[in-house]
Parts: sequence; C-alpha cells; structure tokens
Amino acid sequence: MSAAVILRATIFHTPSNPFLEVGSLVAYEDGALLVADGVIQAIGDYSTVQQTHPTIAVRDLRDGIILPGFIDIHIHYPQVRVLGGIGLSLLEWLRYNTLPEEAKFASIAYARAIAAEFVHSVASHGTTTALVFGSHFAAATAALFDQASISGLRIISGQVLSDRHLLPELHQTPEAAYQTSTALIRRFHRQGRLLYAVTPRFALSTSDEMLDVCHTLMQENPDIRFQTHMNESPAEVKEVADLFPAAADYFEVYERHRLAGPLSVFAHSIHTTDAELKRMADHRCSVAYCPSSNAALGSGFFPLGRHLSAGVRFALGTDVGGGTGFGMLKEGLQAYLLQRLASDGMTLNAGHLLYLSTRAGAEALGLADQIGDFGPGKSADYLYLRPPTASPLAAVMRNAQNSERLLASIFTLAGAECVQEVYVQGDIVYKQEIE
Ligand code: GUN
Ligand code: ZN
Repeated sequence: MSAAVILRATIFHTPSNPFLEVGSLVAYEDGALLVADGVIQAIGDYSTVQQTHPTIAVRDLRDGIILPGFIDIHIHYPQVRVLGGIGLSLLEWLRYNTLPEEAKFASIAYARAIAAEFVHSVASHGTTTALVFGSHFAAATAALFDQASISGLRIISGQVLSDRHLLPELHQTPEAAYQTSTALIRRFHRQGRLLYAVTPRFALSTSDEMLDVCHTLMQENPDIRFQTHMNESPAEVKEVADLFPAAADYFEVYERHRLAGPLSVFAHSIHTTDAELKRMADHRCSVAYCPSSNAALGSGFFPLGRHLSAGVRFALGTDVGGGTGFGMLKEGLQAYLLQRLASDGMTLNAGHLLYLSTRAGAEALGLADQIGDFGPGKSADYLYLRPPTASPLAAVMRNAQNSERLLASIFTLAGAECVQEVYVQGDIVYKQEIE
C-alpha cells in the first residue's frame, strides 16, 4: 500500500476520442492528480482537489508536466541494434540488416543483454505499456519477459512465428511453434503486468498450417492478444498475393484463419483497400500507425482519413528498428508532419497526438478500462516531464500562450532528456540520472 499523494503540476489527458468529440483534450494548468495504492483517486484543478483532501501530502511538480504513460503498440525487441539502417526498402532491410541481427538471438547471453537495453530504453522514453514483437527463439522471448517483469513495465509480447522465406535458423515447424508458444503462455501470460500476444511475423513468412496454429493458440487462451504486419510495402503485398492466390486480399489471409478480432493489432496497413477496411471495422481490430518507420523504409503514407471514415481504430507505434527510435513524442510529431504532407492527409492537433500516444493504444489493446488516461479508478501510469533548464523547450514553455500550444511544443521539442520520472501503478519504473 503506497501513501496517498497529490501531485501538483500542469496535467494533460484525453479521456475521450478527439477524432469523434470536441473538447477531448483536458488540461489543468495548475492541476492535481491524487494517487493512492497505485490508483488515480481524483484529478482536477489543484485548488479544488486540495480543498476536498486537505490532509493529503502534496508533491510540488509545477516546474513540469504530467502526462499519462505512453502506449507503444508496435515495437520489436531484437531490433535495437539495427536502428539507423536507413536507405533500404522493407524487404531489403529485412534481408540485409534485420534478419541476420535477429538470428543472433539464438545466443541467450546476447538476448539477455539486448532485453535489458530494450526495456531500459522503453521506460526512459516515458512508455509504460508496449505491444512488443519478441524473438523467433523461445528462450530469447522468455528473456524479454523476465526483464520486463523486473522493470515493472506493462509488456505484451510473444514468440515470433515463421516457417518460410526468412533465414532457415529463424523458422520453426508449426508443431514446435505450438509447443513453445503454449509453454510461454503458461509461464508469462497474466503474470504481474505481463500479457501474451500470438505473433506470426507476417503472411509472407507463415504457411496456412502456421496460421492455423495461431488460431488454435487464440482459441485455447481467449484473452491473449494477436499482432502481425499487414499491407506495409507494395513488394510485400504482391508476394503475399502470389503466395495466397485463394485470398481476395492481404487481410483475408488472416481473416480466413480467424485471427482478426477486437484484440488483434495489424501493423502498418498502408496499402489497405476500402473493402479490407470495411471488414477490419466489422471485426473491430486495430492498426498500429508507425509514421517514422513508414517514412524511413519508404513504405508509403498511412491513409489515416480512410481508417477514420471506415471506423477502424489506430494508435501509434515506434516500430523500432524500422522506425527511428523509442520516442512516442517523436512519433506523434512525425504523424503530424506526414499527415500535413500526404495528399489526403489531415491536420492533427495536440489533442490528437496525445490521444494517439496514450488512450488510443489502451483501446487497441483492450486495456482502456485500466490505463490510457487519468480517469478516477485507473492505474497510476504516468510520467513527469521537465525540460533541461537552458533548453529551447523550457523557453517556449515559459511563454506558451495557452495549454494546447504548450502540449504542441512538447510534441515538437521534447525527447528522452525531458523525461524525469516514470510510474506504473504508482511504482517508479524509471528516474533520470544526471550524467
Ligand atoms: N514485416 C515483417 N517483419 C517486419 C519487421 O521486422 N519490421 C517491419 N517494419 N515490417 C515487417
Ligand atoms: Zn514491425
């Protein structure tokens, strides 16, 4: 039981969807968040909360900002060391940079070292929940879960499954995939803050038999999540069409195997047709929008407006290592910039960016009753952000004309150097050390 505390700071959250409702961005310039036992008890203007709870200790954080912990719904743990490999398209990048790196995770010592780097980097960027692609190797995937458990972060992950068209050492048989996945589910799913996600890499590297195994795992474990890639690059879409001639489109490959549902997240969804979008909405599945990765790999512009019109949910993912780093603030900025330039793009505001980096992710992961905003009763997952004193952001923040401008300046200028402390369920999971 942790003692109750009132955190006094400028506070932002998006308790509803700003794409559907005006006024979804809620800001308290001199705000208070009352936290006890890892749960948000109250939020409001400081004077109101303090008067209602006059005996509770106050922590003065008025030199900074409190935001809900970021929720990254697409990131790969074995790709930390391929960050920065620019200039290639998806299939080249997989072949030359990424698959050889992922093959190194056969070594458990290597896997443990990267798992520690990965989890530290997630937390130090203010991310409290992530949907993570594990490794093709079960032991390396277990190493991630072990490290995540030590860190206190909410990590949803699973062994990556493939039985063709990658490197032979990354393939498993469908039978072996069933056995190792089942063992990992028993060991880690619902242990503390961990959840399991069935994770076929993409249709290009999975046979019908492997996708059947994925379905069996989903059936046997009804509350586990599902994640994969879909409609990312034109060359990939073409290869998948050749491999599955009976499917009318890419989504149908997953749909036929009954892998699309409210707990399914499809990464990228750039070249998705209207017919696919309609069925994705019917299945209430979600999309991971990864703006940095989509640009870095030259995959294309995410059709945000078409997902919105079709009623398909989407939230942000960093896609380390196709993307450019762990920062969800940067991902929000990239979404804003790229939607400004896309021919059918939409001008996003600061409320959209905060929603896409927090509550939208909670909705996609089926966790919106627990995390994503500061509604009373939700878990106290938050970050305290304060820019270095002499930084441009500190100067901009001092002079911000209103709270929405202040939040926009954070998305524009803040990086990990501004993340001071990060909490999950009221427990500290990261504190910046002065180097
Ligand atoms: N498609 C299949 N594997 C990958 C991957 O590792 N990264 C991205 N961006 N797309 C993929
Ligand atoms: Zn990916």
